[in-house]
Amino acid sequence: MSEPRTDAKICGMGHSMKRKEDPRFIRGQGKYIDDFVLPGMLYMDIVRSPHAHAKIKKIDTSKALKIPGVLAVIDGPTLAKYNLHWMPTLSSDTQMVLPIDEVMYQAQEVCAVIATERYIAADGVDAVEVEYEPLPVMVDPFKSLAPGAPILRKDKKDKKDNLAFHWEAGDKADTDRALAASDVVVSENVYLPRIHVASMETCGCIADFDTAQGKLTVYMTTQAPHAVRTVLALVAGHVGLSEEKIRIVSPDIGGGFGGKVPVYPGYVVAIAASVVIGKPVKWIEDRMENLQADSFARDYHMKVELGAKKDGTMTSLKIKTVADHGYTNASANPSKFPAGLFSICTGSYDLKHAFCEVDAAYTHKPPGGVAYRCSFRVTEAAHAIERATDALAQKLNMDPAELRMKNFIKPDQFPYKSVLGWEYDSGNYAGALKKAMDTIGYDALRREQAEKRKKGELMGIGICSFTEIVGAGPSKQFDILGIKMFDSAEIRVHPTGKAIARFGTKSQGQGHETTYAQIVAEELGIPAAHVQVEEGDTDTAPYGLGTYASRSTPTSGAAAAMAARKIRDKARKLAAHLLEVNENDLEWEPGKFSVKGAPQKSKTIQECAFAAYTNHPQGMEAGLEAVHYYDPPNLTFPFGSYICVVDIDRGTGDVKVRRFVAVDDCGNIINPMIVDGQIHGGLTQGIGPALYEEISYDDEGNISGGSFLDYYVPTSLETPKWETDKTTTPSPHHPFGAKGVGESATVGAPPAIANAVVDALRHLGVTHLDIPITPEKVWIILKSKGVAE
Ligand code: CDP
Repeated sequence: MSEPRTDAKICGMGHSMKRKEDPRFIRGQGKYIDDFVLPGMLYMDIVRSPHAHAKIKKIDTSKALKIPGVLAVIDGPTLAKYNLHWMPTLSSDTQMVLPIDEVMYQAQEVCAVIATERYIAADGVDAVEVEYEPLPVMVDPFKSLAPGAPILRKDKKDKKDNLAFHWEAGDKADTDRALAASDVVVSENVYLPRIHVASMETCGCIADFDTAQGKLTVYMTTQAPHAVRTVLALVAGHVGLSEEKIRIVSPDIGGGFGGKVPVYPGYVVAIAASVVIGKPVKWIEDRMENLQADSFARDYHMKVELGAKKDGTMTSLKIKTVADHGYTNASANPSKFPAGLFSICTGSYDLKHAFCEVDAAYTHKPPGGVAYRCSFRVTEAAHAIERATDALAQKLNMDPAELRMKNFIKPDQFPYKSVLGWEYDSGNYAGALKKAMDTIGYDALRREQAEKRKKGELMGIGICSFTEIVGAGPSKQFDILGIKMFDSAEIRVHPTGKAIARFGTKSQGQGHETTYAQIVAEELGIPAAHVQVEEGDTDTAPYGLGTYASRSTPTSGAAAAMAARKIRDKARKLAAHLLEVNENDLEWEPGKFSVKGAPQKSKTIQECAFAAYTNHPQGMEAGLEAVHYYDPPNLTFPFGSYICVVDIDRGTGDVKVRRFVAVDDCGNIINPMIVDGQIHGGLTQGIGPALYEEISYDDEGNISGGSFLDYYVPTSLETPKWETDKTTTPSPHHPFGAKGVGESATVGAPPAIANAVVDALRHLGVTHLDIPITPEKVWIILKSKGVAE
């Protein structure tokens, strides 16, 4: 769909409607957790471990409790009385809420101080004295998995190693045979380091237990409010928190990116404190707590082997991965896919033989594996195949664009069954790459590069042609902790023809209030301006699994269309009643039913809505509303081709992104302006890990990158001008042909940038560089090759 079908008044799909939520955001009227102040509210602050692994010998709270305003200190033994000192993670692992005798990573929660004011709580934290006995620290996932390594998770009684899980897809023996028979095999060790989502708003909550009603309301920064309510009911049912007495409210959220899916100990302790004390308790992380203790992303060590014939035809792919999950596997992956959707690693290429495996290791680091703006490990998969593709082009002395064109799955092969089990719904990969090449002037750039190389200047051109897999997911395969991954929409049309629509997802800035309203407008012809969208309140919204992994459009977006179509069916009956004709004699155009052959006889959707409450036919239920729980038949497979041009300073090793063209395809678009914004944001969150961001640990488990002084998120100064464009290949199974888009750019940008840098250095014999590609890394290479200035 290229042109909108509705007019600007209705503002259905395809209109770049201004975001309905923005007036409140840009005027500072958004309501985030820290904006809530409840009567009698108390504050919580957390004592954290300075050690990565230590025995807790003693916690002395006496000085803290003497501070006026400090009301309580909650520690592990306190929670243990209620059996609340451990909790399940969303990946079916277990995690301490507060420790009894041992801490397992630096910045782990040790105990919590409750006080009448935020700063008094912080003073209380300073006054708590904890005696630790440091213990040996394991930070290397390879050593952790080696035979004879000391066991980290001693709480798991039968655990004899540090393997969090092993997962594999494909036929290993067949792939080994195909690799052995290949004319050329490239093999690269590709590491995607630990990074952090570093969203603008840190995590926090207000737990408010109403002793009169026995009801708990938790205002919290969660991307998945319904799942949290259910998990809370399951783990705290024995202390009286049953599901109807729990309300989770997720208000405006300042960025989630997967980091606000896990349940952090702070939430649970605040809830316990509110239930025990009977007053609201607020907990908000500071920036350093957020960076140091919340879930991390990536940390994937991948050995990638790609085989091909002499002419460049790819034959086989094998990837062996060691994943560092830290102390516990606290990511939220679908149960059947502990390594997420990593098996999309064959990417955009028609590979007949492939195998991938992941060994996940426990280490003394905070929990890792969060899907940072990524559909469960797709970023890692795309990086592996796109880097290997460039390495193959280099080895074959072929142009990387030509190699890609040769191996792309062709448009007539869709729906395409990949060797690792996915059914790609639709695609036109060559179309997207060609458009990107034409836009950037690829051939001219290659000529310029050749000229520059003669003069000793370092310029590189990098391509990434990624395929995403989003919209988890079909319930036959996808669940989290057993809860199937459908999502929902509920629409009510009021008598005057205005509507309210509620969803099981939860926007964190993506613009759902606008785009969901546009879907309803498209389907019913009610102007988007008159469709009020609400998400995030479990007392009112229909059940759903939340917003992450670009799933909102493929699931709740689809549910919105389906619910609206149910309403349209009923409106048709109402129109037939009002016009005294058979409903089959009516035809629909957005906002109106008219009699076939007599278009002057018509009824608007507003007239039908009014009749639903004032003049509905006998035997018909009054009202005009519908709910739909959408179980997608398949995932959606958005894709794109990105081309990046870099110049490298031979004096400093600094990489400057000169141009970046991103051609994306997310099927039919609801709001082009919002999609463009999603791509811009995603690209910026792609240049961050490509060039700047990394969290690492020394041998004692001390974090580096634990504050914004040494964790370099890109600012406007580092961010180049993004040039965006699109192709449109609708999804054949989605109700309005859309695919998700929120994460495409974060997936596609890092390999494009890494490929550009390697391309600039390939005549020096460089075949691979791990991200982040810092000036220091580049300069060391330039120095060793004798070309540094
Ligand atoms: O789940 P999440 O909202 O993060 O991802 P998404 O479904 O990819 O949507 C991100 C934003 O882009 C939402 O506001 C969508 O409605 C919008 N979008 C769109 O306008 N057209 C598409 N084909 C896909 C997404």
